[in-house]
Amino acid sequence: MYLDTRDFASMWADVYKLAITFIQPRPIAFVSTVSADGVRNLAPFSFYNMVSAKPPVVMVSPSFHHDGSPKDSLSNIESIGEFVVATVTEEIVDRMNQCSYEYQPDVDEFERCGLTPRPATQVKPALVAESPVNIECSLLEIKRFGDGPGAGNVTFGRVVAIHVDDAVLADDGLVDPAKLKAVGRMGRSTYCKTANRFDLPRPTQG
Ligand SMILES: Cc1cc2nc3c(=O)[nH]c(=O)nc-3n(C[C@H](O)[C@H](O)[C@H](O)COP(=O)(O)O)c2cc1C
Repeated sequence: MYLDTRDFASMWADVYKLAITFIQPRPIAFVSTVSADGVRNLAPFSFYNMVSAKPPVVMVSPSFHHDGSPKDSLSNIESIGEFVVATVTEEIVDRMNQCSYEYQPDVDEFERCGLTPRPATQVKPALVAESPVNIECSLLEIKRFGDGPGAGNVTFGRVVAIHVDDAVLADDGLVDPAKLKAVGRMGRSTYCKTANRFDLPRPTQG
């Protein structure tokens, strides 16, 4: 298979569907935000990663709805300038999936999807109590690519606080993946667990 994607206007949805089956597994950011009216919002985004360590910066990329309007997470981040990213574990994967339903902006998605908000320390949006890892972020900038559905709004957040439940820590003070039980997104409706792992130390000579 070969695709020339320079003229993407008529084919972006196919490119998207294909790419998410080979750019995988992707981590899932469970993004907590709050609207200017104080309504709590939760939504998963698998266009997510850490992109700088000094300073610590993460990115998530909410697109637009089919009607071209911004997703609630994006509107909330733009108006409040803060967000929280929780890690999606096996225990909360169904509730994460429910939060991907496109609820109206006045729906509290914590309440609707059975998750518990816990106050953050540095930002207004709530932590997800059921997730063992929550990071608090302050908006740095949003880099927009294109318009309408499929367009990216790469949202960079400066990590201002990290909460890790001690129960998922290993003896070395880092997170033990066997305790964390994170899930990743594969494309289609497929997800993966992180149970099948191997170690590969970095080379010590060239
Ligand atoms: C696992 C998963 C990953 C997703 N990743 C993204 C993503 O990276 N970008 C995006 O725009 N939508 C993504 N979605 C869809 C959004 O979660 C969905 O549109 C959601 O309703 C947006 O909520 P909001 O309007 O409350 O922000 C994803 C859905 C799922 C289930």
